[in-house]
Amino acid sequence: MSPSRVVFSASTPLDPPSDDGPLRWSDVRGYGRRLVRRFVAQARAAEQPTFRTMIGSHFGIAVDDLAVSAETWPAYEHVNVQAALDVWLARPATTHEVLGLADYRHRGSFGLADLLGQDDPRVFHGPRPGNVTRTSLPIGPDGATRECLRAAVLLVSDGDDRLAILFRGPDPESDLGGVAVEVVATRDGLAGAVTARLRELALELNVHRGQVVSFGHSMFGERASLLRFHPRRPMAAGDLILPEATFADIRRQVVGVARSSERLRAAGQHLKRGLLYGPPGVGKTHTVRYLVGELGETTIIELTGETLGAIREACSIARSLQPAMIVVEDVDLIAQERDRYGGETPLLFTLLNEMDGLAEDADVVFLLTTNRADLLEPALAARPGRVDQAVYVDLPSRDDRRRLVELYVGGLDVDLSRIDDVLDRTDGVTASFLKELLRRAAVIAAERQPDAELVVSADDVDASLAELLDTRNQMTRSVLGYRSE
Ligand SMILES: Nc1ncnc2c1ncn2[C@@H]1O[C@H](COP(=O)(O)OP(=O)(O)OP(=O)(O)O)[C@@H](O)[C@H]1O
Ligand SMILES: [Mg+2]
Repeated sequence: MSPSRVVFSASTPLDPPSDDGPLRWSDVRGYGRRLVRRFVAQARAAEQPTFRTMIGSHFGIAVDDLAVSAETWPAYEHVNVQAALDVWLARPATTHEVLGLADYRHRGSFGLADLLGQDDPRVFHGPRPGNVTRTSLPIGPDGATRECLRAAVLLVSDGDDRLAILFRGPDPESDLGGVAVEVVATRDGLAGAVTARLRELALELNVHRGQVVSFGHSMFGERASLLRFHPRRPMAAGDLILPEATFADIRRQVVGVARSSERLRAAGQHLKRGLLYGPPGVGKTHTVRYLVGELGETTIIELTGETLGAIREACSIARSLQPAMIVVEDVDLIAQERDRYGGETPLLFTLLNEMDGLAEDADVVFLLTTNRADLLEPALAARPGRVDQAVYVDLPSRDDRRRLVELYVGGLDVDLSRIDDVLDRTDGVTASFLKELLRRAAVIAAERQPDAELVVSADDVDASLAELLDTRNQMTRSVLGYRSE
């Protein structure tokens, strides 16, 4: 019996006895019956069902002394807890009914104990049975979602056992930043076993495992923010142009460690905290993208300066969903920032401490990037051993510049007969610069021959380079990461 379906018959029609023809005894009796029915209906309306009465009648025993077992999760686990609940409810011999909650917002905290306690409407102003509210939450990067309860009481029959579950999702309008589940049951010990099982299932069915996720913003603290999914796009090795030794170092540190984590762990090794540093535009972010693509099964958690406050949550997710990689891009942005919780400690130290706190055998790789290693160095030097390997990504060599030009030419028809001259004049430029060089050359070619098929001549390439090196383009050069001195 769901409260949203209960119809109170307070409006029983009450026609006076018909006055055509003489008054009959049967009319009087009928009128009297209707009067009685109306009084009963009004009395019932005054005593609408409460959770206490509904759970009480579901259990068939007094509910006052039943022990409540409670469990909580951070907000981003909402969808996982729902998945756990759905699987648990779908077991054979289990039936359930979902009751919604009304009047629960802006009411401060409440739990099952409150719902089971005093329910006299003259004293109790807590939540009452109402409509069931649900919300759709993403379960992957492709737009698929799962319907999740926002707030509900479930009346469950499991064989001879009877249970009631209070389920609450994150609700910034009341006081709840995370997910809370409370259980009472007719049998001793059952409530605790159910919350423990839900915790296990939520981990087993975790939709974030093996995905690329980042924290969304939340005004209510990191525990209250949700995780966003990002598509993982595998990248061809040929799309990343780095000096061979640099590429080998990075791959060994990240992919190699992931692949042989068992053996390395057995040997007591823990190569798992790397730093990529180097000037802007040389491909640090590009490298991270490549690694994310190559580590197909690994859970990736991306943190930025704005979401670094969630570092503890990120570590906890990484630990429970290993193998995992935590990426902190542009870590210098937080080097100076104070910890929002710890007061005086800069966030960077919090990060380093969390990195250190991960168990030696945890299969979690940290990858930090920065173009301001000078800002990080004092902190890293003060806490030695936090970073296992720092890899410098340099400006591309002449040889790498040639490979980059070839890469960016792609399907374009470009005359590269004077490429050596271009390479001579581009010492010290970044990959981004060369990418822009070819884009501009293509634009110039298109302007020159508006109706013809796009063919980029050696002159177009020269013109593009001349534009980029022109003094008027100082700002463009600098945003592309090029410094002339
Ligand atoms: N080594 C590279 N190989 C291929 N393409 C590259 C390389 N480096 C940079 N690029 C191209 O230039 C773009 C910008 O590079 P990226 O964002 O990775 O630089 P970054 O080192 O992270 O710079 P910043 O320090 O400013 O964050 C990339 O999206 C990519 O298209
Ligand atoms: Mg970058």
